[in-house]
Amino acid sequence: MAGSRVILRRASIDDVPVLERWDLEPHVIACITDDPTATTAFDGTAWTEEIAGASEVSYHLIAEVDGHPIGAMQIIDPQLESTHYWGDVGPNLRAVDIWIGEPDMLGRGYGTEMMTQAVDDAFADPAIVAIIIDPLASNTDAHRFYQRLGFVPVGRQVFGEDDCLVHRLDRASWTAR
Ligand SMILES: CC(C)(COP(=O)(O)OP(=O)(O)OC[C@H]1O[C@@H](n2cnc3c(N)ncnc32)[C@H](O)[C@@H]1OP(=O)(O)O)[C@@H](O)C(=O)NCCC(=O)NCCS
Repeated sequence: MAGSRVILRRASIDDVPVLERWDLEPHVIACITDDPTATTAFDGTAWTEEIAGASEVSYHLIAEVDGHPIGAMQIIDPQLESTHYWGDVGPNLRAVDIWIGEPDMLGRGYGTEMMTQAVDDAFADPAIVAIIIDPLASNTDAHRFYQRLGFVPVGRQVFGEDDCLVHRLDRASWTAR
């Protein structure tokens, strides 16, 4: 994006402390679970193992503004990643997760920049047909964010204990925006 202040880079082991810190932020916990008693996001993800295990079918990005980490994304190939979280999905998709960790960085347009860069990057591969995401059904703020970018709700889906409203962005919609 012209004039973007956000830099997306691959996450490294050095980012583990900041990812762990963001896991304790109430707004991050709220986007991961509807459980009001949860005290950490991502169910205590072991970030060191997660980052060390990155591959081309599942990896994390860190968003920086002025050299400071503000948020993270996960990009996966939902058909090929090893946990098969998405179940039986087709080929040539990317699934994306996004969260801004620093509370004072919310609502300033950085998420839009992060997602725009990540979607552009995904569609730079001509094989990719669509991006899918799984916000909690309760996360109506995020739905508005995704739908403004052109994502369309495609249906409720329960992942584990999480009731989600899956959204999808097809290449044609992104190209035509
Ligand atoms: C969703 C998120 C990435 C958007 O990035 P952002 O930089 O805050 O958003 P932008 O400034 O580009 O756009 C603003 C929109 O983001 C959404 N948004 C803002 N704060 C939010 C929050 N705390 N939680 C969820 N969505 C939020 C709203 O749709 C807002 O639009 P509005 O002005 O109509 O209310 C970011 O708010 C966030 O990380 N939220 C918490 C985690 C989360 O919900 N992640 C999505 C999981 S599916």
